[in-house]
Parts: sequence; C-alpha cells; structure tokens
Amino acid sequence: MSPSLRTEDLTIRFGGHAAVNGVTCAFRPGELTVIVGPNGAGKTTWFNLVSGQLAPTAGRIFKGEADITRLSPSARAKAGIGRAFQLTNLFPKLSVLENVRLAVQAREGIGPRLFRPASSFPRLAEEAREHLARTRLSDVADYPAAALPHGDQRKLEVALLMAMQPDIYMFDEPTAGMSVDEAPVILELIAEIKRDRSKTILLVEHKMDVVRALADRIVVLHNGELIADGLPDAVMALPLVREIYLGIGAEEAA
Ligand SMILES: Nc1ncnc2c1ncn2[C@@H]1O[C@H](COP(=O)(O)OP(=O)(O)O)[C@@H](O)[C@H]1O
Ligand SMILES: [Mg+2]
Repeated sequence: MSPSLRTEDLTIRFGGHAAVNGVTCAFRPGELTVIVGPNGAGKTTWFNLVSGQLAPTAGRIFKGEADITRLSPSARAKAGIGRAFQLTNLFPKLSVLENVRLAVQAREGIGPRLFRPASSFPRLAEEAREHLARTRLSDVADYPAAALPHGDQRKLEVALLMAMQPDIYMFDEPTAGMSVDEAPVILELIAEIKRDRSKTILLVEHKMDVVRALADRIVVLHNGELIADGLPDAVMALPLVREIYLGIGAEEAA
C-alpha cells in the first residue's frame, strides 16, 4: 500500500542545533508506529513539523501524493492530519459536550458563526455524545471544559481528535500525567482506532507494556536523527535502544 504520510530529509535547526536532522520515513494505513527516543531526541519537534506548528529548515512532508510542507496547521488538519493538542483548540467556558460538538461541526465544514445551542443540531450533538461515551466522559458532559481534572482533559483531547476523523492520528505521550486507572482508557481507544485499517497512527510513548501491546513498528530518534526503524522485537533488541530504555527505566525509578 502506498504511504499515507511521508517525510523526506526533514530538518529543522534552532541556531546551530539540528533538533530534527534529515529524517526520511513513510507510514501506511493500518499501521501503528511507536516513536521512541530519549528526552530531547526530537520526537515532539518532528510532530510539530508534520502538523505544521514549525516550518522546516529543509526537507518535505507528503500526505499521500500531496506536498503539504507549506500548508498551515489548519489546512493540514483539514487534509486529515490529526494531532491531539493540549487543549489549545478548546473553548474553556463551554461545556465538554459543546467543545466536542463544535469539533464535529468544524469537520462538517459548518463555520463557528453558525454556533447555536446543541439542540439545533441533533445529529452533531448525538455524534459528540458518542465520542464522549467512547472516551468515558459522559458523566462530565455538562462541565465547563476548563473545570476538568487533568486525566479527563487528556481524554477530551482524544475525543476532539476522534471528532475530526483524521486519516493520520498523532499522539504525543497521551497518557502522561494520567493515573494508572485512567491510562488504559486512552490505550484501549487507540487500539480501537487501530482496528479501522484505513487509519495511520503515530504514537510517542515510552511505556514498554504500551509499546509491546500496540506497536506494529518502532522508529527510534536520537539527537534528531532516525537511527532505527523496524519490527518491534528487532528494534527493541538493538544495543542502543536497550541502553536508551535502561536510561528511561532508571529515570522513572528515581
Ligand atoms: N522552539 C525551539 N527553540 C529552540 N530549541 C528547541 C525548540 N523546540 C525544541 N527545541 C530543541 O530541540 C530538541 C528536541 O526537542 P523535542 O523535540 O522536544 O524532544 P523530545 O520530544 O524527543 O523529548 C531539544 O534539544 C530542544 O531543546
Ligand atoms: Mg516530547
């Protein structure tokens, strides 16, 4: 199958420092790739380049056959690149349900100026409620979004992403700061998205059990460079990757 997303020689320099350095890789529908690497490896920066928050110093990004390197973040979102953001796209005073409904509405191309109470868009509200049920947020549907505790806010990010129905799902440490009983909800949702074989999923995640459960493939970034790319068992057995993981293990134990 031809790639749904591809970066070619993607590079960004901050001053003299190449945070992402010549990264060439391609991703296919039905594939979940876990991106690993030590802190500062360039994982989030690579995500920012793909979703358009940063412009590369060199290299190109393709969504299918289309060169999206120069598109704005919102144009990329419309093109099907879905990134879970920490609440930047949120209306803090509106309810959780209204936020998700507006995301559904935006996907349908109905502008925000047509904002009306949920009752005037029963179908959109119904879909929004489904996203809340899947993310286990039904009980807090009427809370102002800003009033949610951290774990629920992270679930709301995933609900907003699901409302976009992107082709490419990008998750950057989606369970960071979540309690042990909340994290499985997110992971089960990612597994559920994965069952739809038309989607491409990119996941930055360190937790070994998560990587084992979900990864079809692992890409390793180190000092901004792609140093390994392959099947999970093969990549995890590489000496440098083992070293990185021992390092992270030690950090988490500290
Ligand atoms: N806006 C920026 N300005 C300067 N340096 C940055 C910027 N964003 C990221 N960096 C640097 O790029 C490197 C990669 O960071 P990051 O992508 O956040 O790593 P990771 O997500 O793998 O932990 C780090 O050295 C970081 O300090
Ligand atoms: Mg990061």
